[in-house]
Amino acid sequence: MPFPVSRHRRLRASGSIRRMVRETELNASDLIYPVFVVPGLDVQMEIRAMPGCFQFSQDLLAGEAASLMDLGIPAVLLFGVPQAKDERGSEAYAEDGVVQRAVRVLKKECPEMVVITDVCLCEYTSHGHCGVVKNGQIDNDATLTLLERTALSHAAAGADIVAPSDMMDGRVGAIRERLDEAGHEETLIMSYAAKYCSGFYGPFREAAGSAPQFGDRKTHQMDPANRREAAKEIVTDVDEGADIVMVKPALAYGDIISDARSLTDLPVAAYNVSGEFAMVKAAAEKGWIDEQRVVLEILTGLKRAGADLILTYHAKDAARWLGEGG
Ligand code: PBG
Repeated sequence: MPFPVSRHRRLRASGSIRRMVRETELNASDLIYPVFVVPGLDVQMEIRAMPGCFQFSQDLLAGEAASLMDLGIPAVLLFGVPQAKDERGSEAYAEDGVVQRAVRVLKKECPEMVVITDVCLCEYTSHGHCGVVKNGQIDNDATLTLLERTALSHAAAGADIVAPSDMMDGRVGAIRERLDEAGHEETLIMSYAAKYCSGFYGPFREAAGSAPQFGDRKTHQMDPANRREAAKEIVTDVDEGADIVMVKPALAYGDIISDARSLTDLPVAAYNVSGEFAMVKAAAEKGWIDEQRVVLEILTGLKRAGADLILTYHAKDAARWLGEGG
């Protein structure tokens, strides 16, 4: 029925009606908080381009986890900043590596907290690349072995979910097989399925000390211009045994999140990355935007696009605001 019989504004006339017909609801339980772990004791260092986000030493993690649980945030994603780096990123899969130790502490002190670990070599290699470099190129298949070892060491330490972020071909299947052989068939895999080669990772690379020392990541991370290719990546990871598929970054990739939602019945995660966080923080600091309103709008928008889970540095603020009634 056309206007004047049909009037769209009837459904927006009062707060109660708007609440009744709201299509998307954001909850603290949708959020995953990324945490950077550094060696040492009693270290809490703010990250320059990520105000309010810190690198923590392992002894401070339990306190941080407890405050996340109080806010209703069920999961953390751990990144490690190792003591030393080498050509083959050996601290990534060391039994007493910074992440492995952090996982053990967290699962002991705060067993309810779901611990997810980022599986990649770039924070651990002297050249800052995500794999084994041979003749200036990343060797895909040689890298798989190291990724499997890394994922296995995280699972052995007690990680609930391993999250490969390297974008090598075949890594989800390789990790699944290695975990299963070792009796870790209960460990979940959240794959960074469609991960783009993005300018939005800038602040993270500073926080994790993982900028490549030469070249770039264009031979493994995806071209931001491509959409059909994302479908291929997502379907491949589902077929190889991923339990959750992720799209990263988030803000400029709503179409990809929506595609992921329709391609699989698995949970879909969106990673609202460091540069996306930094932009909001900077504009809010200048008084140019209302931070609370913009953050909740962004996170709701990602859910509306099809994400079930959102990895975000805004998680603590967002959970607090949601608890206060948004
Ligand atoms: C790789 C990894 C990166 C991020 C998460 N995992 C960096 C990269 O691919 O260069 C970026 C996260 C962010 O920007 O918030 N280990």
